[in-house]
Amino acid sequence: MKIGPNSPCWCKSKKKYKVCHMQFDERLKGFSKNPKIELPPREIIKNDKQIAGIKKAAKVNNLVLDEVSKMVKEGITTAEIDLLVYKLITDNGGIPATLGYYGYPKSVCTSVNEQVCHGIPDDKTVLKSGDIINVDVTTILDGFYADASRMFMIGDVAEETRKLVEVTKEAREVGFKAIKPWETCVGDIGYAISEYVKPFGYSIIRDIGGHGVGIDFHEDPYVCHIGQPMTGMLLVPGMVFTIEPMINMGKEDFYEDESNGWTIYTEDKKPSAQWEYTVLVTEEGAEIIAY
Ligand code: MF3
Ligand code: CO
Ligand code: CO
Repeated sequence: MKIGPNSPCWCKSKKKYKVCHMQFDERLKGFSKNPKIELPPREIIKNDKQIAGIKKAAKVNNLVLDEVSKMVKEGITTAEIDLLVYKLITDNGGIPATLGYYGYPKSVCTSVNEQVCHGIPDDKTVLKSGDIINVDVTTILDGFYADASRMFMIGDVAEETRKLVEVTKEAREVGFKAIKPWETCVGDIGYAISEYVKPFGYSIIRDIGGHGVGIDFHEDPYVCHIGQPMTGMLLVPGMVFTIEPMINMGKEDFYEDESNGWTIYTEDKKPSAQWEYTVLVTEEGAEIIAY
């Protein structure tokens, strides 16, 4: 059925189509002839109410990571991080999204050194000087999701490892800056990141990347951190997704821990770093909402 100018908009804003997403749809149509560009499906375009909900979840998620940053130090275990994350999310009325997610057993991912991602907290992993750790937190609040991760360096970290952590953080920023609503695509984010990282000689994980988020944990699009300009999904206002590059000091090759079915390690045992935030595409540009 065709939607008329006075019908309620498909975004469920309760506004009339003509004052809501009618122009948006006209604009999208203009890109439909380019075979390299994918048009975003309606289900991933968030309305104002959903954006407000996601921002509230992000506020809790940010608070949790702020508290984690104060307690992460030499001598603590990753299980202690998990406990703090669980307590803070639930005390703030939220649910840790990872807990029970396809059977994942904990409230946070803690990936140390050569662990690329999905490290499972336990009481045997004691942080020691020289370690780097990624703490990845996802909060569900009133049904809305926000997802972010930060790196922490414990005590005396080797200069070359510090560099990896810093370059990875900057890679995320460079990817974010590639977002230009109605002008760039998901591939531009990956392109910007891969061009930035190339001169350092690191490798970027291609097969695990960012994702749409907000109404569900993992939505479209898949945000690969390697890409080509003007390819993939067009970036338009109302999209919410993560940018979360995983960058290895050595080779890209990785394997999954068979005993837990989750944790990803670098094949060459060299360190890997990751920083993640959740971003919102706006009319004017983009906004970082969870970091
Ligand atoms: N937070 C991770 C991401 O950035 C996903 C973790 S899923 C888990 O997408 F089950 F491993 F926790
Ligand atoms: Co994510
Ligand atoms: Co995450």
